[in-house]
Amino acid sequence: TENIFKNVISHAKEYGFVYPSSEIYDGLQAVYDFGPYGVELKNNLKNLWWQSMTRLNDNIVGIDAAIFMHPLTWKASGHIDSFNDPMIDNKDSKKRYRADVLVEEHAAKLENVGKAAEGKALVEKLARLLESEDLTGVRQLIIDENITCPLSGTSNWTEVRQFNLMFSTQVGSVAEDASTIYLRPETAQGIFVNFLNVQKTARMKIPFGIAQIGKAFRNEIVARQFIFRMREFEQMEMQYFIRPGEEMNWYQHWKEARMKWHLALGIPQSKLRYHDHEKLAHYANAALDIEFEFPFGFKEIEGIHSRTDFDLKNHQELSKKKQQYFDPEINQNYIPYVLETSVGADRTFLMHLCNAYTEEVVGEGENRKERVYLKFHPAIAPVKAAIFPITKKDGLPEKAQEIVKMLKFDFNTVYEERDSIGKRYTRQDLIGTPFCIAVDHQTLEDNTVTIRHRDTTEQERVHINELKGKIGEAVSF
Ligand code: GAP
Repeated sequence: TENIFKNVISHAKEYGFVYPSSEIYDGLQAVYDFGPYGVELKNNLKNLWWQSMTRLNDNIVGIDAAIFMHPLTWKASGHIDSFNDPMIDNKDSKKRYRADVLVEEHAAKLENVGKAAEGKALVEKLARLLESEDLTGVRQLIIDENITCPLSGTSNWTEVRQFNLMFSTQVGSVAEDASTIYLRPETAQGIFVNFLNVQKTARMKIPFGIAQIGKAFRNEIVARQFIFRMREFEQMEMQYFIRPGEEMNWYQHWKEARMKWHLALGIPQSKLRYHDHEKLAHYANAALDIEFEFPFGFKEIEGIHSRTDFDLKNHQELSKKKQQYFDPEINQNYIPYVLETSVGADRTFLMHLCNAYTEEVVGEGENRKERVYLKFHPAIAPVKAAIFPITKKDGLPEKAQEIVKMLKFDFNTVYEERDSIGKRYTRQDLIGTPFCIAVDHQTLEDNTVTIRHRDTTEQERVHINELKGKIGEAVSF
């Protein structure tokens, strides 16, 4: 499966989905660019998330807050004090590691050799040590367990230090009265500080939600697994403002709703699971992840967090501006509780890429060959339909262009007349186009075309008036 993941990564590069950032300078670690098909796929995912939040729920509205925020925001949110990773250095290899990841990977190894209980006890012990900020204890745990550096193989470790994940920069000219500001490490705070603006101007009544899609930045030290953990990434977050005391009902509601969303886009149930947090983030009183089975194991794609009134209360304290809501139904003023759903756009992208990537052997004997295709749900496929005239003569290109014109306002389509029809099909398979439409001589006579289906490679003959309906039905979700 490690090999499959390597194939997915090179496929993403070769077929225009994801490139390393500034590649001509050998790239920048944990930063990536999205190519022509990548941006279409990501936009589709973002649009579908946006629509299912803001259109399917009449009490959820969107905002688009700035990346830069007043520095006190991050004091209130706890990120200045608590958004840290415990880091440890190996003195021989001079490599830096996340101490918690070293222990968790060690626990996973124990699990693999039938010592699951031991591994679990270890992770629990780690959680307790981190909870009480006992960094000496974390180092001792690593030494006692004889966890060695993957590179040098030694256990010659430094002390454990906390390392803040926020990127900072200066506003104004540095020489004058410079002030440190941060690149937001989560989009959520832009929603919290606008809670009352939105509530008042959009006349919202609790319960209601605010949705936002945007960039977030984290100085991740352990940057691995392609776009799984990036330093610049996109989040799709929704904060649901509720009455205190009702958080567990809404936790259950959103836990199920978000799982359904991933299932509706074609991720099989067997590859998704919930994972309840043992170690809660500084803001949460209950939290779980939705995990997907990547080629490198089950990993988080989305977090559902019950954040209580932690954020609004702290913003009220630091800003000295009341963050209360008057609830006419119970005739009370209160600071709302918040239920958050937070999913990474890039991580959802990687999940779909891994899930769609298919290597298949077709044919027998001399005709035996490997076929690679991306079996995306049509709703997220970068290109919905490719239109091919079978030859460049006899008016077929013109007829094919007419079909392009008919479809392109509703669907992302491509027109291709170069190469053999087989090669053209293969090319579309590689980027996951669900429908290839071939225009031949019969089309000129009776206005029918063949549709070739990506997953089965089967073809059917349909009238061109049926195309919009057929594609439209397939891409709806
Ligand atoms: N506002 C809550 C919050 O930010 P989180 O669990 O830290 O919670 C939520 O992040 C989601 O954002 C994750 O489930 C993941 O999909 C995505 N994410 C977080 N860090 C990321 C990174 N370094 N690279 C890519 N995606 C990331």
